[in-house]
Amino acid sequence: MMPFYFGSNFKMHQTPAQTAAFITELSQLLTDHPLASATLQLFLIPPFTSLTTAAERLKDRPIWLGAQTMHWAAEGAYTGEISASMVRAAGAELVMLGHAERRTLFGETNEALRKKVMAATSASLRVLLCVGEHAAERAVGISQEVVAIQLKTALADLPTAALPNLLVAYEPIWSIGEGGTPAEPTVVGEMHSWMRAVLLTKFGDVARQIPLLYGGSVNRDNCAAYAALPDVDGLFVGRAAWTPQGFVEVLQLGLAAHRASWVE
Ligand code: PGA
Repeated sequence: MMPFYFGSNFKMHQTPAQTAAFITELSQLLTDHPLASATLQLFLIPPFTSLTTAAERLKDRPIWLGAQTMHWAAEGAYTGEISASMVRAAGAELVMLGHAERRTLFGETNEALRKKVMAATSASLRVLLCVGEHAAERAVGISQEVVAIQLKTALADLPTAALPNLLVAYEPIWSIGEGGTPAEPTVVGEMHSWMRAVLLTKFGDVARQIPLLYGGSVNRDNCAAYAALPDVDGLFVGRAAWTPQGFVEVLQLGLAAHRASWVE
């Protein structure tokens, strides 16, 4: 059975010292409430500058460490960028690609993501590919088309053999961050079924094993409704998980709802 995936992107928050303190406290809370098991996979995605510190703190803990983006080239004249091998050398095993803030604020395109997905998986990094539509696209009824284009373009070259290293997060742009509106669970359910269908068409039956995570204003009050949906295999949380207490609280509520949905 697929594990339940749960993690947080810190965005441009937390120095190395703050990240270390977060991990120390989170580890203590997880020891107090033993949750980790074969049916749970946690991950943390701090800023680049916190990766090496976080990697040391997470040593011997089954929590994946991820970077927030990377360049597709192995090296070169790309000031400000880092490569897949640098991400790995910093101690991360995962890279998030295509976060809405990278797409909207920094001009990341589907074509660039196509190259990044290949560079990351070739370096044996796990990829958490984020997709999602703008409010204006939802308003004119093209959410499914937008997400299908994002998935089909970014994953165009990915061989089936690399699928064990792929996770996908649906994060509608209108729902994330300050000012975001939490999505209705019915919308999330529809979009996750749609993504599964797109992936099944592209990759065949093995696409059932691709974890589909939901993110966007997930909090303690709404996490259970999302986590209980079919085709929601995990939660990707920002603000509500930026304290260790918040992280564990949303995790516990989401995990309980997800596990309850298995036995229904
Ligand atoms: P949020 O962030 O949970 O604070 O809305 C989600 C994200 O941007 O990944």
